[in-house]
Amino acid sequence: MQRIMVVDDAELNRELLQNILKDNYIIDTAGDGEEALQKLHRHESETVALLLDLQMPKMDGYSVIEEMKKDGLQNRIPVLVISGEHSVEVEDKCFKLGVSDFIRKPFNASVVRNRVKNAVELFACKNELEQKVEEQTETLKKQYQIIQMQSEKLKEAKPFGKLMMQYRCAIMEVETKLKVLNDEFTQNYNRNPFESIQSRLKTPESIYDKLRRKGYPVTVKNIERYLSDVAGVRVICSFPDDIYRLAELFVRQDDIILLKEKDYIKHPKDNGYRSLHLILNIPIFLSKGKKYMKVELQFRTIAMDFWASLEHKLKYKRDMDNAEEIVAQLKACAESIEALDYQMQEIRDKIDSPRG
Ligand code: GTP
Ligand code: MG
Repeated sequence: MQRIMVVDDAELNRELLQNILKDNYIIDTAGDGEEALQKLHRHESETVALLLDLQMPKMDGYSVIEEMKKDGLQNRIPVLVISGEHSVEVEDKCFKLGVSDFIRKPFNASVVRNRVKNAVELFACKNELEQKVEEQTETLKKQYQIIQMQSEKLKEAKPFGKLMMQYRCAIMEVETKLKVLNDEFTQNYNRNPFESIQSRLKTPESIYDKLRRKGYPVTVKNIERYLSDVAGVRVICSFPDDIYRLAELFVRQDDIILLKEKDYIKHPKDNGYRSLHLILNIPIFLSKGKKYMKVELQFRTIAMDFWASLEHKLKYKRDMDNAEEIVAQLKACAESIEALDYQMQEIRDKIDSPRG
């Protein structure tokens, strides 16, 4: 629950306000400015508003606001001044200090609740907006860095473009090989071994990020040397056994070199992720001769793909309250999907068998 701090040297005022607000918030109280700041620091992140008297012993309300300003708290937590007097000078001074609103004595419960609610909601929106601006600034900074890097490396721009062209060629080679296998497989088994192929070339931004993450300078050479997923091809099959049949037929081709196999179907990741990943070296044929390019080839069933695309969304929403619950649900789903995949395969076998 959100917290509200009521700061007033008169106990009666504290009690009245506490009673008015206690159904909707946890109420902290303080009898002077010093106590208020101490308690506020303890619950900084949960406190959503400060109801503040101006005239108090030890430290008055104005000084509390000044102190909050120094800590950057005033930007984040709305201050509503509890006031008995209605002087324009005092109000004006308060607004200049950044006070959000006034709560006047005698307190009217409904007015107090609404003023507090409005201030809390307004600040929540403001804080969220500021966070978004911050995130966008961060993105812009990153993009600016990339542009700077690109302009600095203008000399490298051409080799980079050439390399991307070569990766595109490698993707085309893989796609063609898969289509050939598909045709042949269809002849032999009377059905398609895969449902669809998705290909993607890693974006310059993502290439840049990954090399930096791995701690290598961003150069054309390093892209080729240290990244194996610049060219990515994903094959979506109907049944698990098609995955292995197809992968084997593919890897068996004598111009293909299998660099690495990660079988997340036999050994799923902790989160439940399942797919077969192959890192391959594929030859492309250019005017100056043959060149081997790395391609990441992923095989999944339709059900695994359905799961992975939903799970992928979780990665971009890290700040969810119920993330743990979702992770557990996804894991359970992955297990159901695995069972389902094999059940469907069994049914297919029955249908395909001579007696079926
Ligand atoms: P990346 O740096 O993410 O490429 O991982 P990696 O180089 O360690 O390779 P890995 O084989 O683990 O993953 C390669 C790709 O598989 C990823 O880029 C994703 O497309 C996919 N992948 C791997 N793990 C997961 C996962 O847990 N969930 C989802 N949705 N996709 C995954
Ligand atoms: Mg990757």
